[in-house]
Amino acid sequence: MKHYLQFCDLSADDYAYLFERSSLIKKKFKSYEKHHTLVDRTLAMIFEKASTRTRVSFEAGMYQMGGSVVHLTTGDSQLGRSEPIEDSAKVISRMVDLVMIRTYEQTKIERFAEHSRVPVINGLTNEFHPCQILADIFTYIEHRGSIAGKTVAWVGDGNNMANTWLQASEILGFKVHVSTPGGYEVDQSIAGIRSAESYQVFDDPMQACAGADLVTTDVWTSMGFEAENETRKVAFVDWCVDAEMMRAAKPDALFMHCLPAHRGEEVQAEVIDGPQSVVWDEAENRLHVQKALMEFLLLGRLG
Ligand code: CP
Ligand code: NVA
Repeated sequence: MKHYLQFCDLSADDYAYLFERSSLIKKKFKSYEKHHTLVDRTLAMIFEKASTRTRVSFEAGMYQMGGSVVHLTTGDSQLGRSEPIEDSAKVISRMVDLVMIRTYEQTKIERFAEHSRVPVINGLTNEFHPCQILADIFTYIEHRGSIAGKTVAWVGDGNNMANTWLQASEILGFKVHVSTPGGYEVDQSIAGIRSAESYQVFDDPMQACAGADLVTTDVWTSMGFEAENETRKVAFVDWCVDAEMMRAAKPDALFMHCLPAHRGEEVQAEVIDGPQSVVWDEAENRLHVQKALMEFLLLGRLG
């Protein structure tokens, strides 16, 4: 049994399969062809934080494959009334085929997975967001081909998205230029990467963007860190992706953002709503790649 708790839980070969499969699944979806590979399978989705994309893509995806979903939140389940995560895992995993969790500490999802009889998928933790990076890299490939050997500029917080980009760079062979304000750096041990070879740190975000194939950013304040919002607004003021940063990147560079975005904070409207932005493809591709992922975890390689 395989869980998907971090990007490094799968190999480069698994990703090559998943990207091919996502492409097939997407083509079928676009031509209204049925893709019922998960008939009678049930996915439990546990949300301890808010979501739009993750919920809609997993829920719609599961129904579109012939399965069904159960949606739980902290507030409307015993999780919010201190039932141990281990007990919840034992009970929920006896009734469903697959579990997706969005929560706070990575250790929480790890404890759940340890006591689960079925595969567990990370739908975002404080440390990682592997399903998003899966969609982002699939989107890059659709627009520009292989990401191997390319340069991704990360401008902003050293957060769950940054950590996951770093893990992906080691597995898929690309480089990440990271620029964060002081005090918000990526931490190699939290990112769970083997070495510092696949990334380079820049104090100046303009320098991080120079020559990049892809420029990407995220909110200044992630979910769970709301108390730091005002301090962060001051610290991050120079880490706003603008037209000048995009001009420093390659002329055909793409812009990505996992969304939700705050125009005028981490990105200027002219960039996110401009011609280099692929944010809507990125969001849609959550649906297609997660269908491929759920199938892979439950049925292995098909076709
Ligand atoms: N990008 C992303 O995970 O969006 P949601 O928070 O809306 O799920
Ligand atoms: N880093 C953001 C991503 C939201 C999809 C957060 O964790 O809130």
